[in-house]
Amino acid sequence: MTSSPAPRIVRIEPHGYSFESSPSVSLLEAATAAQVRLPRSCRNGSCRTCMCRLISGTVSYRIEWPGLTKEEKNEGWVLPCVALAETDLVLLVPEAEIDRPQQK
Ligand code: FES
Repeated sequence: MTSSPAPRIVRIEPHGYSFESSPSVSLLEAATAAQVRLPRSCRNGSCRTCMCRLISGTVSYRIEWPGLTKEEKNEGWVLPCVALAETDLVLLVPEAEIDRPQQK
């Protein structure tokens, strides 16, 4: 019997939005499910629209060659559309927005 992996908590700074993710979905998919809107376009790791800084935690990639150089990866840049949360994460995404209707 297999059990699903424990959820990872992803926090988006500087806003402090947080949501659960897992290594089976991309960070962009998990954010979208939680109604957190991150910059995006191609969703396949090539356009770099979603590129942002990983402040803490570890990601892996669902594709072999995400559109980042080795230096960019070493500097902490990640592509959420193809990145998977291996641990709890903190990402720096100033452009992030909550995709929820305004309370009246
Ligand atoms: S949306 Fe294009 S690289 Fe992530």
